[in-house]
Amino acid sequence: MCGIVGYIGKDDATDILIDGLRHLEYRGYDSAGIAVFENGQIRTVKTRGRLDDLTQKMEMEGKPAGHCGIGHTRWATHGEPSDINSHPHGNKVVSIVHNGIIENYMAVKEFLQDKGYTFESQTDTETIAKLLDYYYDGNPLEAIRSVLAKIHGSYALGIIFHDFPEKIFATRKDSPLIVGVGSGENFIASDVPAILKHTRNYYLLEQDEIAELTEGSITITDINGDILSKELMTATWDVEAAEKGGYPHFMIKEINEQPTAIINTISPRIKNGLPNFGLPNLPDEDFGKYKSIQIVACGTAMHAGMIGKYLIEKMAHLPVNVDIASEFRYRDLILDQNDLVIIISQSGETADSLAALRIAKKIGAHTLAIVNVVGSSIAREADDVIYTYAGLEIAVASTKAYAVQVAVMYLLAAKFALATDRMTEEESKEYCRTLLDIPKTMKCMLDDTGDCQYYASKFQNAHSLFFIGRGLDYALSLEGSLKLKEISYIHSEAYAAGELKHGTISLISQDVPVVAVATQAKIYEKTISNIKEVRARGAKVLLICKEDAAVDPEVADYILRIPVYDDIFMPLMTVVPLQLFAYYTSVLRGCDVDKPRNLAKSVTVE
Ligand code: AGP
Repeated sequence: MCGIVGYIGKDDATDILIDGLRHLEYRGYDSAGIAVFENGQIRTVKTRGRLDDLTQKMEMEGKPAGHCGIGHTRWATHGEPSDINSHPHGNKVVSIVHNGIIENYMAVKEFLQDKGYTFESQTDTETIAKLLDYYYDGNPLEAIRSVLAKIHGSYALGIIFHDFPEKIFATRKDSPLIVGVGSGENFIASDVPAILKHTRNYYLLEQDEIAELTEGSITITDINGDILSKELMTATWDVEAAEKGGYPHFMIKEINEQPTAIINTISPRIKNGLPNFGLPNLPDEDFGKYKSIQIVACGTAMHAGMIGKYLIEKMAHLPVNVDIASEFRYRDLILDQNDLVIIISQSGETADSLAALRIAKKIGAHTLAIVNVVGSSIAREADDVIYTYAGLEIAVASTKAYAVQVAVMYLLAAKFALATDRMTEEESKEYCRTLLDIPKTMKCMLDDTGDCQYYASKFQNAHSLFFIGRGLDYALSLEGSLKLKEISYIHSEAYAAGELKHGTISLISQDVPVVAVATQAKIYEKTISNIKEVRARGAKVLLICKEDAAVDPEVADYILRIPVYDDIFMPLMTVVPLQLFAYYTSVLRGCDVDKPRNLAKSVTVE
């Protein structure tokens, strides 16, 4: 989604804004722009396209020279990606950048048109710029407050006023924004990586708080104008986390960071061999009291939830439902305080997941968030939060965040199993020992990626591809398929292997290869039968199975064998080749691995 950066200080604002925006590129965007005070006047340069297009335009037009400005990368929602729709949007009073969606922008537009305003872009953002112009009578804060009272929706706003060349204003609701605290310089940003080079210290703006920045001061007020005293946060990520560190892409760097991320996430939560989360509002004895568990998430995080469902149901015999957040939020929910609702999100800002969390809270269910980004909205609003320690994840295709979400699911499943007397302490200790051993094996797998590169080269020209599996292998197939399609643009579907012949097998042909995952002994033979069915229809098959599986060589064209653990732990093994397969396919097809088209890292609009 869109990215915001603002700078006020003594250095070259344009350079700092462009560099900050580069560190937000991972969020996904299709146009970019900056507005900088140059000799007391706001100068704007914006364009459809990438930051390189913007810098090229600046080379031709001359780079804005100044020490205060705002910048934006836009991911189009209202209106196509175009120069005119790009941010900043300005007029004789203000220049603004905006993330989010103004839901009542049509009504606001009509209100302004009645007052004689005309519009040149198709964006909802232009209505905010014009509203500020309408309400402004010399007092920026009053004008901002009047605008906030008039608009509905989600927004993070960076604003500069022509009359105040030494100030930046910012506010937010349901779209994140931080205020970076430097020495003789201050920043606004939609995400920490944009300012990490300059400072680790920042304030998190809460709903409808307004920040007023000069180079030497930051004042934050609430909607009534009362000055707030805010907690200063310190980012634990270092600058290197936002760099590729010698890898060609963030995605492969992050795939390789998985063993460490898993250890960082689970080892502090294992005490004397037992899972221990130390949650303030979910004491140990409460783990046994829920009649069912509802997991809600989007995309890859939802796939981690699917693994959780299989694990918790198997180990603790508790019914678990997994729902996509955008569906959950509009369903007629049958939940109450006897249900636990688990929200999983890397960013902690996904609009649908946040809405789902709020609905679950309203219903009275206890909410537990599993989140990677510290201080994000979901983390702050949930009754309890388990932070995953994946570190900064930049590639749009989520890999290490998935691995740590799954790792937390393993620990939670054991916690529920202990609480429901389905697991003894001795069994838990053995289970946790295995879990702690897995990252070492994962590391060995990551040291030898030749097979995955080879299989990617064999399948890279496919137009369509199927991933099949049963049980936990089906949950993994969903993730393998999503990974492949989002970064290689090859159409793919994940199917429960047993469901193929209820319709979809009609799509199988010699041009439609199949990746089959078969790591679960109980259903291994069943999956093998399904593989035979697709091979009989001409499909080329890549089988992913355990190292020690007895496989008739005739069953598959290619066999990828992975290290052996008890069946229940196999997802943490299987995910590695699936991620690598997607990665190398994307590389071989010359795709933009880290920033796939149309996608955003953090989906902060509905
Ligand atoms: C993952 O590869 C995707 N880019 C996407 O599905 C992502 O997992 C989803 O948007 C949820 O994001 P979140 O974890 O930040 O809530």
